[in-house]
Amino acid sequence: MYPALPPLLLLSATRAGTGALVSPLALAAPVYAQPAFWAALALVAGGLSVALYLLGREQQRAREQELQARVEERTRALQAALATMAESEQSMRQLIDRLPSAVTVYVDDRAVYANDAALRLMGYERFEDLQGRSMFTHAAPEERALSEARLARLQVGESLPVREGRVARADGTQATAELTAVRLHFGGRPAVVSVARDITESRALESRLRLSDRLASVGTLAAGVAHEINNPLAYVLANQRYVAEELERLLQDPALPAAHALGLRELLDALHDAQEGAGRVQHIVQDLKTFGRSEEERSGPLDVRPLVESALSLCRNELRHRARLSKELEAVPQVVGNAARLGQVFVNLLVNAAQAIQKGSVEENEVRVRTRTDARGWAVVEVQDTGAGIAPQDLPSIFDPFFTTKPVGVGTGLGLSICHSIVRAAGGDIAVQSEVGVGTTFRVELPPAAPARPAQAPAAASPAPAAAAVQGARVLIVDDEPLVARAVRRVLQGAHAVETATSAREALARLEAGERFDLLLCDVMMPEMSGQQLWEALGKSFPEQQAQVVFVTGGAFTPEARAFLERVPVRVLSKPLDPAALRELAEERARLRAARAARPASGQA
Ligand SMILES: Nc1ncnc2c1ncn2[C@@H]1O[C@H](COP(=O)(O)OP(=O)(O)OP(=O)(O)O)[C@@H](O)[C@H]1O
Ligand SMILES: [Mg+2]
Repeated sequence: MYPALPPLLLLSATRAGTGALVSPLALAAPVYAQPAFWAALALVAGGLSVALYLLGREQQRAREQELQARVEERTRALQAALATMAESEQSMRQLIDRLPSAVTVYVDDRAVYANDAALRLMGYERFEDLQGRSMFTHAAPEERALSEARLARLQVGESLPVREGRVARADGTQATAELTAVRLHFGGRPAVVSVARDITESRALESRLRLSDRLASVGTLAAGVAHEINNPLAYVLANQRYVAEELERLLQDPALPAAHALGLRELLDALHDAQEGAGRVQHIVQDLKTFGRSEEERSGPLDVRPLVESALSLCRNELRHRARLSKELEAVPQVVGNAARLGQVFVNLLVNAAQAIQKGSVEENEVRVRTRTDARGWAVVEVQDTGAGIAPQDLPSIFDPFFTTKPVGVGTGLGLSICHSIVRAAGGDIAVQSEVGVGTTFRVELPPAAPARPAQAPAAASPAPAAAAVQGARVLIVDDEPLVARAVRRVLQGAHAVETATSAREALARLEAGERFDLLLCDVMMPEMSGQQLWEALGKSFPEQQAQVVFVTGGAFTPEARAFLERVPVRVLSKPLDPAALRELAEERARLRAARAARPASGQA
């Protein structure tokens, strides 16, 4: 374009010259005619053109330099911006990596990035194992359709509410998580970012808490039911025994005609069946009483053996198809703890033992439960099985909450951690020994309670009186349930003089009227005036009669009643009453009275 400039200038100068020189041309024509004029003119015009050209080039160069400077400045700014962006992307990645939430980025439905929490949630150690997988790989099969529908909503620009769902983990187990997803650009490409929060543990804990809540209310209910069943059961059992004994006596009568004897024997057989059924009900009620106290956190001195027995009957079904059961329950010192909670320890250990053994080979397998006293005088309970055993690498973790090797739905991994905390709360220890393929032994060691107060077994400690011919005891039964009183009376009648009072007031009135008894069998929970109130009234007015009281309880009494019975030096029998124990007690009281009667006489001699 520059080479065209001088001719153009020349042309325009010529044209301009043409217009501007019209009149001088007319005036001085001879000058035009001279060639020197034209040469000078061409020279001037050429010089001008060159000058103009040089000027333009200078300006152009300046412009170019300015542009260059601006480009460089912009480039620097851009580089700085890119550096800042890279830095913030780096920080963003670091942030995402450290987030407790699981973040996974999918481009074209292929995983391109995941943080540690996401790897943990889906069960991977390295990102390479997840890389390239579809986002539906880890949707629980039953939730796949739902996940697809949510993705479709996301693709059309909707934002997704958080939902609670299941994540299928790489090892086949499932996790519970709160799930959502957003659309973003990742590396310049449209991506779906899935965000999840693992709530498996908190959900498991919640369900365990709900379970223990339920157990507590079931426990309360069970205690109430046990109490209600105990009274009628007491007289069912006592009357059954009474009738059975009577029938047996009749059958031994040589004068009984043979035809009658046959009929009576059949009656006796039927009665034995009924007794067996009632005996089973009695055991169930006993178990309900043990585990029905779970809402009470009271600790008291207790014998662990009945707890082990109750745990065994609760787990019998679990064990029956897997192993033979053997028990060696030696006497152990009393320990301090809560009956329901210690009972739970043995149940958990027995259930674990059962679950470690495959069903079907009952004869080859054994679950052995032992109680013994160790060299320190502690009570030891051992639960030993011939099950699968525990792998050495699992041993350090088994008491951790949520550690389980069992499939979802079978174990939550809380059993042993609960055992551990209960045993520690009782001041004891729990230990394990295991060999894979051979079996496992759990050992619970509990320190002994302080030596028992002598008051707890006053009657047992009584000296044996002289074996003289002794008249029967005078017994007063104080119970608001007349059928209980009648059943007791049937057991004792003949050998002892048995009276009944259906209220504490009635009993008190009879004492005030001058009657005296060798044994007052007194219910604890009675309307109007309780056993405790009667005991206190006796202490004031008839202390020698107070010493004759033996309380009879149906089980679930109030905390006050329980505290009262622990406080006072009084013997306590549980319903349903054992006739043999009842007869023995009455005989013992009769002997004591005879001994008392004999003592003043020898003192005077
Ligand atoms: N007797 C046993 N034999 C073999 N393994 C056992 C035994 N007892 C416990 N374990 C192992 O210890 C793990 C933890 O036991 P724990 O009782 O705490 O939980 P769980 O039985 O798995 O579940 P949960 O008791 O909550 O139903 C078990 O998953 C199992 O691997
Ligand atoms: Mg368990």
